Amino acid sequence: MSELWEAEARRYDAGYDSTGRAGRVIRARQEAAIGLLGDGLGIARVLDVGMGGGRLCTALADNGWEVAGVDPSEAMVALARSRLPGAAETLVVGRAEELPFPDASFDAVTALGSLEYTRDLDAALREIARVMPVKGRAVLSWPNYGGLTPLWRGRVLYPSLRAIKRILPVGRPVPPPASLPLPLDKFLEACGDARLFMAIAAYIYPSGRVHWGDADGFVIRADGRVRRGRNPAARFSQILCTAVRV
Ligand SMILES: C[S@@+](CC[C@H](N)C(=O)[O-])C[C@H]1O[C@@H](n2cnc3c(N)ncnc32)[C@H](O)[C@@H]1O
Repeated sequence: MSELWEAEARRYDAGYDSTGRAGRVIRARQEAAIGLLGDGLGIARVLDVGMGGGRLCTALADNGWEVAGVDPSEAMVALARSRLPGAAETLVVGRAEELPFPDASFDAVTALGSLEYTRDLDAALREIARVMPVKGRAVLSWPNYGGLTPLWRGRVLYPSLRAIKRILPVGRPVPPPASLPLPLDKFLEACGDARLFMAIAAYIYPSGRVHWGDADGFVIRADGRVRRGRNPAARFSQILCTAVRV
């Protein structure tokens, strides 16, 4: 999987500058995450897990965050370093499942469009919890596989592409099958004694429009499980970006 990202690094990164659907969606996701995270005020440290070419790291550094990032793709890390040479030492090669940072070393952690590519999601969530302190913030995105757009991708498009790429491994990797929402309960469990005290969500539509979550969308229950509410955003959006404060 990460070999494919090596080959795809520049093409994926250039998507941020494209006017097409993919560009609109990833830009909207990044903007939503920045909104969910708030201002670093020059004192807070943030880690971007699966940082890709460092677009979010750059935007967060501009917002006053001290940034670090990790990605298994050397090509992505090189891109991120070229964008943020001043932070090159903290933009490193590594996997979400084994973050090369000490416990509680970040005030916030972001992971946009990367958790769905991890080989061991539980381990990745445990690691994200480990590097966050109590009262830390996490902004995690996850494909809304339960929605109608992602349903056709998850059931028809992705399985077909996966079959083709097994024979001809070109182009962007296809996310592994995922039929459930992000298991936030696993994340909260990994946070130990910490209690969830805030969870808001941004639903990203294929058009790039963002709908901010409310009680009628995905409802995050006290135990951290997510259930679908009546809000149409939960049905039609493509990506769910959730901010969790523990
Ligand atoms: C769709 S790109 C998203 C990049 C960036 N977060 C963004 O929002 O533009 C997915 C990224 O996840 C990275 N990735 C794949 N497996 C990973 C893992 N196990 N841990 C962390 N990142 C991973 C890939 O190398 C790639 O850079």
